[in-house]
Amino acid sequence: MTLRLYVPIDAGALAVGSGQVAAALQAAAARQNVAVELIRTGSRGLYWLEPMVEAETAAGRVAYGPVAPHDAESLLAALRADGAHKLRLGPTEDIPWLKRQTRLTFARCGVVDPRSLADYRAHGGGKGLERALSLGAHAIVEEVVQSGLRGRGGAGFPTGIKWRTVAQTQSSQKYIVCNADEGDSGTFADRMIMEGDPFVLIEGMAIAGIATGATKGYVYIRSEYPHSAATLEAAIVAARRGGLLGERVGGSSFSFDLEVRVGAGAYVCGEETSLLESLEGKRGQVRAKPPLPAHKGLFGKPTVINNLISLATVPWILAHGGEAYAALGMGRSRGTMPIQLAGNIKHGGLFEAAFGLTLGEIVDDIGGGTFSGRAARAVQVGGPLGAYFPRALFDTPFDYEAFAAKDGLIGHGGVVVFDDTVDMAQQARFALEFCAIESCGKCTPCRLGSTRGVETMDKIIRGQRTTANLELIADLCQTMKFGSLCALGGFTPYPVMSAIKHFPEDFTRSLRVAAE
Ligand SMILES: Cc1cc2nc3c(=O)[nH]c(=O)nc-3n(C[C@H](O)[C@H](O)[C@H](O)COP(=O)(O)O)c2cc1C
Ligand code: SF4
Repeated sequence: MTLRLYVPIDAGALAVGSGQVAAALQAAAARQNVAVELIRTGSRGLYWLEPMVEAETAAGRVAYGPVAPHDAESLLAALRADGAHKLRLGPTEDIPWLKRQTRLTFARCGVVDPRSLADYRAHGGGKGLERALSLGAHAIVEEVVQSGLRGRGGAGFPTGIKWRTVAQTQSSQKYIVCNADEGDSGTFADRMIMEGDPFVLIEGMAIAGIATGATKGYVYIRSEYPHSAATLEAAIVAARRGGLLGERVGGSSFSFDLEVRVGAGAYVCGEETSLLESLEGKRGQVRAKPPLPAHKGLFGKPTVINNLISLATVPWILAHGGEAYAALGMGRSRGTMPIQLAGNIKHGGLFEAAFGLTLGEIVDDIGGGTFSGRAARAVQVGGPLGAYFPRALFDTPFDYEAFAAKDGLIGHGGVVVFDDTVDMAQQARFALEFCAIESCGKCTPCRLGSTRGVETMDKIIRGQRTTANLELIADLCQTMKFGSLCALGGFTPYPVMSAIKHFPEDFTRSLRVAAE
């Protein structure tokens, strides 16, 4: 009998030793003289349990974790007997953290072999493209519009409307660009798809091509993701061989092909126009809009530029219908969001759920509170440009409009938790410093404002003319918010002003000391 084991090869799992665990399992199998088939998958996203090993049983997959190399011998012996082991987590699908999720975009992540097109198809992959081909370009766009899908890169712009604009723009050449720069702090959803289910992205991009008349696509991946780039490259080769890409996509008359491009490491290259500059081989600097990339994008041609998750969600929408997707969520935030829990959190990982969970449910219940066991004091949602929310705002539902109403943003779904040892004045300083370092330099409020902001914040931290300098920061933030060309300078005021508003005591320590 051959034992079939699944061990993640995702970068997050590799970082905590899944490579060594795989090797140890193979060595133990040789010693115990058992035949083992080891399949390397992506991660299920329960990172505090990685390396999580799954074993195939008659009753389905059973999970064990976190497994260390020295557990290999006893684990293998247990699997040959009744499966009982101190690291046994039970049937994978029954782990409450997984069971509570609504896994649509991430349905196959951690389940399939990411390099096998056959495995992808065996788990329902390809059905979206099949239906898309039967619908035709116009109906695909309308199905995506109907789904209510909004861009998962940050701005939340309706994906179907963007596609419609490109579809209606006449040109002999159009492009689909996937934004996999994933620069937001605490986010890893794009990476998990590329390393766990890359064919779903390829399928989504091919559908986007058919819908808009684009025949060529690029995936722009941050340089810090070498595993993602390698897995995606391998999947592209397999997709060409299997008819998912190339001259006749899915046996149709449409042609679509893809290339991977790796960035050189700049946060601003995640901004769509800067990304296009970088893709064209130039310095990553923001372009003034208009023209929109939908009219004049890559190499001056009409271009769909979407976040990876937006594109990877499309196959599910086409396979199950826009209406089924729109049935989930709240308000104008339809469908599901991969919430990424990071920072000082007990259960760090990816939790895909319909919009509408409150921030408190996400941090305390799903995240299990802080890793340190201390009180959670602040949560930054939406990356480095997102606001800091105090516990008093934990009743805010995860919804674009609800967050915006409280001067926050959801961004790419990153939730970074801080306990009560955090110094919010230092966090505000960090936001300004980040902006100063990452600024592309094109406009004055961001290029100069961020550096003046760091200097002023330093004075506040030192207790120099605190009240006057806090007023100066507020004034500077107004100028940056309304005078910056893009959201890097325009949104840096959110973390800064939210820290001052919700945690004023961290900025006025020197005043209190003086009064005592
Ligand atoms: C400074 C800055 C950085 C950004 N970084 C990313 C990023 O890493 N990934 C991403 O998808 N979008 C990023 N965006 C948003 C993109 O400009 C753009 O809105 C997005 O790629 C559009 O795709 P979507 O409609 O599918 O969200 C960034 C925006 C700004 C201003
Ligand atoms: S706000 Fe900053 S990053 Fe954006 S265009 Fe201006 S200088 Fe460049």
